[in-house]
Amino acid sequence: MKILKNISLKKYNTFGIDVSAKRFISITSVYELQELLKIEKDIFLISGGSNMLLTKDIEKLVVHIAIEGISIDKEDENCVHLTVNAGENWHDFVLWCVNNNFGGIENLSLIPGNVGTCPIQNIGAYGVEVKDTITKVEALEIKTGKLVSFSNTDCKFGYRDSIFKTSHKGKYILTAVGFKLTKQKHLLNTSYGAIETQLALNNIKKPTLKNISDAVIAIRKSKLPDPKEIGNSGSFFKNPVISKALFLEIQKENPNIPSYKISETEIKVPAGWLIEQAGFKGKRFGAYGVHEKQALVLVNYGNATGLEIFQLAKKIQAAILKQFKISLEIEVNIIA
Ligand code: EPU
Repeated sequence: MKILKNISLKKYNTFGIDVSAKRFISITSVYELQELLKIEKDIFLISGGSNMLLTKDIEKLVVHIAIEGISIDKEDENCVHLTVNAGENWHDFVLWCVNNNFGGIENLSLIPGNVGTCPIQNIGAYGVEVKDTITKVEALEIKTGKLVSFSNTDCKFGYRDSIFKTSHKGKYILTAVGFKLTKQKHLLNTSYGAIETQLALNNIKKPTLKNISDAVIAIRKSKLPDPKEIGNSGSFFKNPVISKALFLEIQKENPNIPSYKISETEIKVPAGWLIEQAGFKGKRFGAYGVHEKQALVLVNYGNATGLEIFQLAKKIQAAILKQFKISLEIEVNIIA
């Protein structure tokens, strides 16, 4: 365990924001983490850095979770139970599963970040949420250094939500995630329009896990910027759920508004569509802006500051509130 001084965090966050850590340590085992917690509890955690916007230098000790390793706990002919350590790269893990014919997370291909943070916001894409395959979340309680295991129900997963964003926020360090995946009779989810189109394009009628993963990769590449090329954090806002009454009011003026029914009284609308209508899609302000192909994604073209991007987010929120009477909720963690 070695504490480094004055480290730039640029390569540790997918937005590519260049702030620095006064002190920085990379942790590769649960034991090391427990030892560290005995001497320092007021820490700032960083893992894949794919869901945060850093707006200033970090004064606290920055702890980079780099605990790697995948183990097969048990398996039979139908399914496999895995425990995956928090520092494993999410997309590499998805590809490993696809190559081993383990089904369930192929629709979540190419999502940036690490395994240890996937439960926090219950990552989801193309009709699948990670909560549907998670069996447990292992975590260290910061106060006591005790290792605890949360069941799927304990985590209270919701749309881009879990207890690790609410009641348990800042209290635990996620060290590993358990998954149950299928080995045969995979429950493929190809209902999402773009996947269907992509499969049809390649004339695939009976898709394999690999076909679906490839289709998702192609769709994401065509719409979402690669953080290695253009800094970003995926969807910056959540898709808002609004009352049916408000939806009907907006629909009167905008008959083409896309929507998903949540209940008899509530409708979810895509934030990307709202932001596009407000005229922000593809807008560039110097070193930062709104992605040209998906208005839900704010981007850093080079050396933008976190504050600049945060200001843009607030400007977008104000515009959407004025135009549609909808409060957009920020999905990314703002570190201020
Ligand atoms: N739309 C626009 N303009 C835009 C973007 C979208 O009009 O600039 C419209 C599309 O035409 C479509 C609808 O909005 O009718 C939905 O768009 P899309 O299918 O791209 O999905 P999304 O609702 O914008 C969500 C997730 C993404 C996930 C996709 C696919 C949230 C906040 N975002 O986006 O997740 O990849 O669905 O399932 O739920 C992420 O969380 O980082 C992320 C990328």
